This record gives sequence, C-alpha cells and structure tokens, in this order.
Amino acid sequence: MLIVIQLVILSFFSNALRAESVAASRPASLDSEVRAIKDQLREVSLSLREEMYSLFGDNRSDLLLLQVIDLIKEVKEMQGQIIGQAESIENIESKLVESLESLERIEDSQSEVRSQVTEVNGKVETMRSEIRLISQQKLTWQNSTLGDRLFSEYAVDGVYTLSNDWNGVNPIQHPISGHNQRNFVLIIDLGGLFKIRTVKLWSRIDCCQSYNLGVFIYADGEQIGGIVEEKPLYNFDVNQHVYARKIYVKQSLAKNMNFREIQVYGSGPYDESEV
Ligand SMILES: *[C@@H]1O[C@H](CO)[C@@H](O)[C@H](O)[C@H]1NC(C)=O
Ligand SMILES: *[C@@H]1O[C@H](CO)[C@@H](O)[C@H](O)[C@H]1NC(C)=O
Repeated sequence: MLIVIQLVILSFFSNALRAESVAASRPASLDSEVRAIKDQLREVSLSLREEMYSLFGDNRSDLLLLQVIDLIKEVKEMQGQIIGQAESIENIESKLVESLESLERIEDSQSEVRSQVTEVNGKVETMRSEIRLISQQKLTWQNSTLGDRLFSEYAVDGVYTLSNDWNGVNPIQHPISGHNQRNFVLIIDLGGLFKIRTVKLWSRIDCCQSYNLGVFIYADGEQIGGIVEEKPLYNFDVNQHVYARKIYVKQSLAKNMNFREIQVYGSGPYDESEV
C-alpha cells in the first residue's frame, strides 16, 4: 500500500510542476494542458489498479480500491487548484508591475514639482530682497483735504516734476489749514509688512517749504526722522531693522504741511513670523 501512495504522490508532483511551468509561459493553452494532465492521471490510476491487482492477487479488496480512487480524485482537484493559482499569481504580478510603474511616474512628477517650487521660491526670495519703491500708488489717508482737491493720493502718485505744484501737472497733498490744530497726519498704507530702508519727502518748489518744519516721520511706532530745516528734498535713511505696514507723516505743531511727493523704499513683503 505504501508503494501505491508513493507512486500517486510522485506522479502528482511531476504533473503539477509541469502544469505550473506551462501556466507561467503559455496561459492561453492552459485548457489543453489540463486535459492532457487529466489523461495522464487516468493512465496513472489504471496502471495503479493493475499494480494493485498484481500485489493482492485475485482477492480484490473493493474498499482499498475505493480508497485509491478517492485519493486520485483528490490529487486531480489539487492539480486544478494549482493551475488556477498559477494563473491568478500571474495576474497579480502583472498588476503589481503596473502599479509600480505608475508609482514611479508619480514619484517623477513629484520631484519635478518640488524642483519647480524650489525654483519659484528662489525667485520670490530674490524679488523680496530687492530694495525698491514700495509706496507708489498705495492707499493713503489724511485728516482733511484742502479745496476738496489736494488729496493725500497726490503724495504717492509718482509725479514730482519741478513745475506747477499748485494748479498744474504736479499736484501736491495739502490738508485744510491747521493754524489752530496740532497733529495733522498723512498715512501711507504699504499693504504688507516691509523692511524700511529710506523715506524721501519732496517739498513744494513754488513756496511754503517752511510749512513742513515740525513734521515727524514714523514707520509704524518707530520714529525715523524729523524736519528741522527748509529743503526741497529730505532723505531719511533707516539703518536698523525697522519693519512696518504703515508710514505716518505727522505735523507736530499747530500748522500746515504739504508735499509734492513722499517715497518709501524698502524690501519685502515679509510674514510676521520672519522678522
Ligand atoms: C482473500 O481474502 C480473504 C478474506 O477476505 C482471505 O481469507 C484470503 O486469505 C485472501 N486471499 C489472498 C490470496 O490473500
Ligand atoms: C488726524 O488724525 C489722527 C489719527 O486719527 C489724529 O490722531 C489727529 O489728532 C488728527 N489731527 C487733526 C488735526 O484732526
């Protein structure tokens, strides 16, 4: 009996191995291979039966025969399962290869995006570090406006030629006369947090430069200059690290002030966390 079982197992394994290699190389002809294996198994079971007869003589033990047939059936089933598994393993493998390829593609485009972001960051850094005019055409405010026409906007309009201050092409900023009021204020809202480098104030050239005596200039809370003499142009350099969102030009005395142009130079804008 032991020899019989060994024979069955041997034939099972040799066929199973063949079936597997066939499944891996030519999955399309699997059906015909399975048929061939079945035929082989039938042959093996017939020869086993003959072998049994010779071993046990004429005394046919039906029970033993049934057991062997069961065993053969079991082996056949296992073989079928192995072929099916070989097929699905192949499917899984090809799907894995596909997934790996698309993962590689995703990684490629990710690193491309990352390098582009770094490049853009570098450009933004370069732009931000440039010291430039940061006040022109920004929002402004002043307590009052003379004649309802000498607006605070004219202080940042980019026009500061040497002619026609009052009524012509070179309009000035001018509050309503402040002879009995202190603290006229002109505010330039820079629209972001900037590092302030220089503030330039251009006086009128037709008259009235003395109006500006007593004016102080602030970058947010920090005082960065004061006007104590009559000049056509004042340059207030800021040497420390001064960051501000707004520039305040304030007449501390009970008198007027008027400017052709006010220019703020600096770099940025910066985030609060960077300064
Ligand atoms: C056949 O089986 C019977 C019992 O089932 C037994 O008595 C007899 O010896 C067996 N003959 C051979 C040749 O083994
Ligand atoms: C101008 O406005 C500022 C800010 O609101 C205020 O502190 C100041 O007193 C005002 N000055 C006058 C002359 O109204």
